[in-house]
Amino acid sequence: MTAQSTVRVASLKDFDDFQQHVRSLGCAIPCDREIVTGERSPLRQPLVCGPLRICNRIAVQPMEGWDGTPDGNPTELTLRRWKRFGQAGAGLIWGGEAVAVNHEGRANPNQLVIAQHTLKGLGQLRRTLLDEHQGRVGSAEGLIIGLQLTHSGRYCRPSVQHRNEPRILYHHPILDRRLGLASEYPLLTDCEIEGIIQDFHRGAVMAAQLGFDFVDIKHCHGYLAHEFLSAHTRTGKYGGSFENRTRFLREVVQGIRSLAPDLEIGVRLSAFDTVPFQPDPRLSTPSKLGPGVPESSKDLLPYRWGFGVNEQDPTKMDLRETVRFISLLRELGIRLVNLTGGSPYYNPHVQRPALYPPCDGYLPPEDPLIGVARQMDATRELKSQFPDMIFVGSAYSYLQEFLPAVAQAAVREGWVDLVGLGRVVLTYPEILRDASEGNAIQRKRICRTFSDCTTAPRNGLPSGCYPLDDYYRTSPIAKKLNLVKGIDPRKAAGG
Ligand SMILES: Cc1cc2nc3c(=O)[nH]c(=O)nc-3n(C[C@H](O)[C@H](O)[C@H](O)COP(=O)(O)O)c2cc1C
Ligand code: SF4
Repeated sequence: MTAQSTVRVASLKDFDDFQQHVRSLGCAIPCDREIVTGERSPLRQPLVCGPLRICNRIAVQPMEGWDGTPDGNPTELTLRRWKRFGQAGAGLIWGGEAVAVNHEGRANPNQLVIAQHTLKGLGQLRRTLLDEHQGRVGSAEGLIIGLQLTHSGRYCRPSVQHRNEPRILYHHPILDRRLGLASEYPLLTDCEIEGIIQDFHRGAVMAAQLGFDFVDIKHCHGYLAHEFLSAHTRTGKYGGSFENRTRFLREVVQGIRSLAPDLEIGVRLSAFDTVPFQPDPRLSTPSKLGPGVPESSKDLLPYRWGFGVNEQDPTKMDLRETVRFISLLRELGIRLVNLTGGSPYYNPHVQRPALYPPCDGYLPPEDPLIGVARQMDATRELKSQFPDMIFVGSAYSYLQEFLPAVAQAAVREGWVDLVGLGRVVLTYPEILRDASEGNAIQRKRICRTFSDCTTAPRNGLPSGCYPLDDYYRTSPIAKKLNLVKGIDPRKAAGG
């Protein structure tokens, strides 16, 4: 499968063409023939979650920009992105972007940090978003804004762009090799973990002071809290049994409840994982990425380094522990869940289906619509088991022209409560508002999944939509990006 051989979504003429193509891939994606506009639009129905009233079914996913200051404050570029988040007119802003709870936990030297010295800047982000939303929609009623709190664990790179400073919970037979970690590389101690838990508590209290409605305890994409869930081989109180692997979550939640009782809590979860992928070595050249293939796991069975995976065939998902985890969230009084899958570092085609790979990725191993369907189906399954929980779904951007029709159908048929928009917000934040208000869809602004917004940060540059957003396209950074890319991934992908 290459970008060349994949049927491009933009080439599918209409509803029937789309449905036929999806069927030919052997998957199911709901899609409505007609978009309902105005008050009756399924996307415009309010939703109540405990004390929170969310004005519609549109959510903006967290998206960081690698554009903060070295001390973790936002810059003009960060503010510009949050303004865009506000332009979506979404009822739910899921976290804005990943904000590290301490300096060591940053995923890059430009990630935001929550601390006394960044409070003013973070407050300004929230205010800017809120004003923009209000200006566009006419009111801020029903706008719920969260802040995503994170520790990057295995993917910490706090100080220098190209220096990994992993903070790991256990030795992973594939990921350790990729990061060049020797078998004696130290694990985070239980005592260090307790310190990080306190940093989450402090971060949540500050988020509450700033007026955020909730905090997301980020459990996805290979970062620290997600790594706890697969810490089967870790000894001590944070590893091994399910109870131990979820102790981190429970201790974070317990502290937040006592220190900031009015603050709501949400969890963004990689509901399933898979074995790390790599470009097929047989089909790769120095100038051309091969199609993605899973690394061999045949000597690693039963596979004990994943969450939501089948231990006997870790390329397949197994949602039994995911169901247990969501039951635990319910017991803890957490109803807001944002489902995603995999990791941008080791299986980007699972996490953000795209036609063109990021520079450290591989050519699509499958039609990216299969990746969209996989996340949608897992969300449908979990929603059906937990009808009282509020689920945000991910990975819709690849749907492009069909995003509004699929989003409407997914909400109408109860596959999901809110449709989360990621990359498309960088190019066309108003897409679902336009559709549900009967405005023509502006095709030129649709994200075509070129992945430059991932390739740029991989090379130490701020993220942004270089192909479609004039601000980035015409900036001097764009020239740098072309230089560092060496080979345009679109050309490498044959497009
Ligand atoms: C540039 C960029 C930055 C991202 N930053 C975050 C982040 O800070 N936190 C997070 O949970 N997910 C992050 N994601 C993942 C998105 O929230 C989303 O899950 C993913 O892009 C798939 O959704 P989409 O198909 O709508 O883009 C990021 C994605 C991109 C492309
Ligand atoms: S660079 Fe722009 S078009 Fe490409 S994936 Fe990112 S948002 Fe989409």
